[in-house]
Order: sequence, then C-alpha cells, then structure tokens
Amino acid sequence: MWKLSAIAGTFLMCAVAHVTFTNLKCQMIDRRFGLFEMCRIKAVNRTHKYMDIYAKIYKLPVDNITCRILPMRHDHGYRPFFMNLTFDFCGFFRSLRTEHGIREILLQELFQTVKQFTNVNHSCPYNHDLVISKMWTGNLETRFLRYIPLPQGDYSLSFYWFTVGVHRATVRVYFRLTGG
Ligand SMILES: *[C@@H]1O[C@H](CO)[C@@H](O)[C@H](O)[C@H]1NC(C)=O
Ligand SMILES: *[C@@H]1O[C@H](CO)[C@@H](O)[C@H](O)[C@H]1NC(C)=O
Ligand SMILES: *[C@@H]1O[C@H](CO)[C@@H](O)[C@H](O)[C@H]1NC(C)=O
Ligand SMILES: *[C@@H]1O[C@H](CO)[C@@H](O)[C@H](O)[C@H]1NC(C)=O
Repeated sequence: MWKLSAIAGTFLMCAVAHVTFTNLKCQMIDRRFGLFEMCRIKAVNRTHKYMDIYAKIYKLPVDNITCRILPMRHDHGYRPFFMNLTFDFCGFFRSLRTEHGIREILLQELFQTVKQFTNVNHSCPYNHDLVISKMWTGNLETRFLRYIPLPQGDYSLSFYWFTVGVHRATVRVYFRLTGG
C-alpha cells in the first residue's frame, strides 16, 4: 500500500505540475459564533496566488472541534468523487505522534501544508481569532499531492466545521490541477 502510493506519487509529480486556487468561499453558518472578516485569493503574478482567511470568533474559547472534509471534482458541476473524511480536530492534535494509518498520514500532510501559514498550529482550545495568512499553492504541489493520484482538472475541498456537534462554518477551496 505504502509502496504503491509512493510510485503513484512519483508518477503524479510528472503528471501534475501546477496547482492554482480558482475560488474560495467562506460561510459562517452560525452567525453568533463568528464572522469571516476576510476570505480571499490574491494573485501575486500570473502563476502565483495566495489565500487569506480571517475568522473573527465571538464564542471563545473554541474547543471540541469536528471537521469534515469533502473532496469534489468538477464534471458537469462539482461532485463528490472520494469518501469524505470526518475527524475530531482536537483529537488529531493529541494523536499527532501516535497514529500512523493512511488517514492520519493524509491529515498530517494537510496540516504540514497549512501549519506555517496559520495560528491554528497548536492543540485545542483556541483563545483567539482563527487566521490563515498568505498560504501559497507551492506547498500543495510538493507535499500533499504526492500521496493521491489525481488527474488534471478542477477540484474543490469543502471543510465543514463543527464545535460541540453544531455546524458553525463551511469553507470551500476551489483549485485547478494542470500539467507541466
Ligand atoms: C511569481 O511570484 C513568485 C513569488 O514572489 C515568484 O517565486 C515567481 O517566480 C513569480 N513568477 C513569475 C512568472 O513572475
Ligand atoms: C460522509 O460520509 C458518510 C459515511 O462515509 C455519509 O454517511 C455522509 O452522508 C457523507 N456526507 C456527505 C456530506 O457526503
Ligand atoms: C503558531 O503560529 C503563530 C503565529 O503565526 C506563531 O507565532 C507561533 O510560533 C506558532 N506556534 C507553533 C507551535 O508553531
Ligand atoms: C463534544 O461535543 C459532543 C457533542 O455535544 C459531545 O457528545 C462530546 O462529549 C464532547 N466531547 C468533549 C471531549 O467534550
């Protein structure tokens, strides 16, 4: 399994040369919970874009967080093409060093990708607003994609955020994979 995905990853590094953000949507489902003060993709030049998200939180501290990630691929509209991944976000931080299943590997890659751009980089609870600042796509290419063989095309990742079992917010990241 491990070897197979490594081989697929090597192939993929050749097949997919570039990841570009195409859109970003942030929706606060529970308006008493917080407010997205910023949710944007900014183009630096023709090939590079970065993502900025600022979530102002009214109900601090934030704890007991569940995240569901739903990957979708564009094919006459965005459709799920893979399982969704639901996990205990605070538990993920607690088990960071002890769990080594494929699920944990994917989550860790995702976390390693985002970590340097966010203040959500420590274990729960969070006593501050939640920020992702100037996140580049370059890291997605080098880290995350090597485990998942994906053909070129348009994709989205929907992140559904729950605290204490209540749906608070949804963030959708849209991106395009192109060949080199
Ligand atoms: C775009 O900006 C990035 C970051 O500053 C830089 O590394 C890259 O070379 C630039 N690309 C072009 C085509 O100017
Ligand atoms: C997520 O997956 C679970 C089971 O794997 C399924 O019951 C649920 O409907 C899925 N949710 C969405 C939004 O696709
Ligand atoms: C988390 O991010 C903040 C703000 O970017 C930074 O000051 C801090 O050193 C980081 N902490 C860890 C454990 O990486
Ligand atoms: C988190 O919230 C859920 C839903 O209310 C609850 O069942 C669970 O016990 C809580 N977990 C912790 C660690 O507080």
